[in-house]
Amino acid sequence: MPRNIAVLVGSLRKRSYCRMLAHALEPLAAEKLHLSIVEIGGLPLYNQDIDGDGAPATWTMFRDKIRQVEGVLFITPEFNRSVPAVLKNAIDVGSRPYGLSVWDKKPAAVISVSPGALGGFGANHHLRQSLVFLNMPTVQQPEAYVGGAAELFDESGRLTKDVTTKFLRSMLDEFSRWIERHAPGR
Ligand code: FNR
Repeated sequence: MPRNIAVLVGSLRKRSYCRMLAHALEPLAAEKLHLSIVEIGGLPLYNQDIDGDGAPATWTMFRDKIRQVEGVLFITPEFNRSVPAVLKNAIDVGSRPYGLSVWDKKPAAVISVSPGALGGFGANHHLRQSLVFLNMPTVQQPEAYVGGAAELFDESGRLTKDVTTKFLRSMLDEFSRWIERHAPGR
């Protein structure tokens, strides 16, 4: 049985390269990982004043979804050398109320994506900083900085370069091994 993995995509636009990549990854690891996007665009901005009893239903549903999965794959663009606010907000929402974080001990992997040459290095590492604090064991190697994103997909969003596909498959294989090492038994 494949492990259930939540994919958080840090971009809201329709033709997002991150979202295209998320879909392109689905068949690459299908035997071991069931990847499914958990939408984060509708989460209200975190505000502690409205948390606890009577918290927005979207927050509660999001937290429940993350609690149920066996790992989290973050696919993020880089905005001004960091992660987009929508992704940071989702992380903040999942981390509260204090002591009830849904991220604690959840195995994770990070892929940053950019049309530029640096592959979102800055966003990747800002995100990793939060994941350290959140106590998420995160795949260290291979690191995944996907640059030149505008040249990676055909019109229907399929990956066009074998070398990229091969790399991403190896990354997902490692994520799968990582989960077996870090996830509690079934
Ligand atoms: C960007 N972009 C960008 N790219 C990058 O490599 N480093 C950066 O710091 C930034 N900063 C940045 C800020 C803002 C506000 C926007 C809107 C964009 C460009 C970004 O990589 C590009 O728009 C991607 O296509 C966004 O990812 P999706 O939407 O294709 O997944």
